[in-house]
Amino acid sequence: RVLRGRPRDLAGRRVVVSAGGTREAIDPVRYIGNRSSGLQGYALARTAAARGAEVTLVAANVALPDPAGAAVVRVESAAELREAMLAAEGGADVVVMAAAVADFRPAERHEAKIKKTDGEPAAIHLAKNPDILAELGVRRKERGDGSPGVLVGFAAETHDVLANGQAKLARKGCDLLVVNQVGANLAFGTSDNAATILVAGGDPIEVPRGPKDDVADAVWDAVAPRLL
Ligand code: CTP
Ligand code: CA
Repeated sequence: RVLRGRPRDLAGRRVVVSAGGTREAIDPVRYIGNRSSGLQGYALARTAAARGAEVTLVAANVALPDPAGAAVVRVESAAELREAMLAAEGGADVVVMAAAVADFRPAERHEAKIKKTDGEPAAIHLAKNPDILAELGVRRKERGDGSPGVLVGFAAETHDVLANGQAKLARKGCDLLVVNQVGANLAFGTSDNAATILVAGGDPIEVPRGPKDDVADAVWDAVAPRLL
C-alpha cells in the first residue's frame, strides 16, 4: 500500500509513539537490553503521519532513519523514556507504548568499567523499573479530562498469548492492547508481524501476518473511531 493512499483520519491529532528497546547501564560500556528493533514503532509513526497526525516518536536505541513527518526524541534507559513520555503526553490525542521497556535495571551503576582483574564476578542486583504505560493510565484517570483519548499498549507473549493479553489489558488501564506472539523468527527484527488487537469492552481484532505497516494501519483503524 502506498503511503499517500491512506485516509486522513488522524488529521489535526497529536500522536505520541514510543519505539525500540531500553538499555539499562551496568557500567559505562555494558548494559542489559532486549531484542526490539523499533520497526513496529517506526511503522506506527510513519503511518500516523501519513494519515495526517502530528507525531512525536520517542525512540530507544533504534538504528533506523527518522520517519518522514515525525519529531524524534532519542532516549536510552527506561528512566529517560519515562521522562520523555511524560513530557510529550500532555495534550496528546493518542499515546502508543510500542517500546520494549526493561522491567528491571541494575540496582547500581558502576562509574568505572568493571575489570576481569577485579577478581571473581560480582552478582548484578536488579531493581524494578516504573511501569510507564500503567502510569500514563493513572495520570489520565487523575486528570479526568479523558486525554489522551486513546491509550495503546503492546504485549509480547511467548505462551498463553490471549489469556495473558486480556489480563494485561485490564491491569494497564489502556484502551487497546496489541498482542504479538514472540519467539524464534516471530516479531523481533522481522519485517512482518501478526497480531491480535484486544479492545477494552469490545471484540478482539485479528491482524493477519503481513508487513509491519499493515499492522500499524490496523492499529490506527481501531484508534480512529475511538477519537471524539
Ligand atoms: N511497559 C511500560 N513500562 C514498563 C514495562 C512495560 O510502559 N516498565 C509497557 C510496554 O511498552 C507495553 C506494555 O507495557 O506497551 C506491556 O509490556 P509487557 O512487557 O508485555 O508487560 P509487563 O507488564 O512488563 O509484563 P511481563 O513483561 O511480565 O509480561
Ligand atoms: Ca515487561
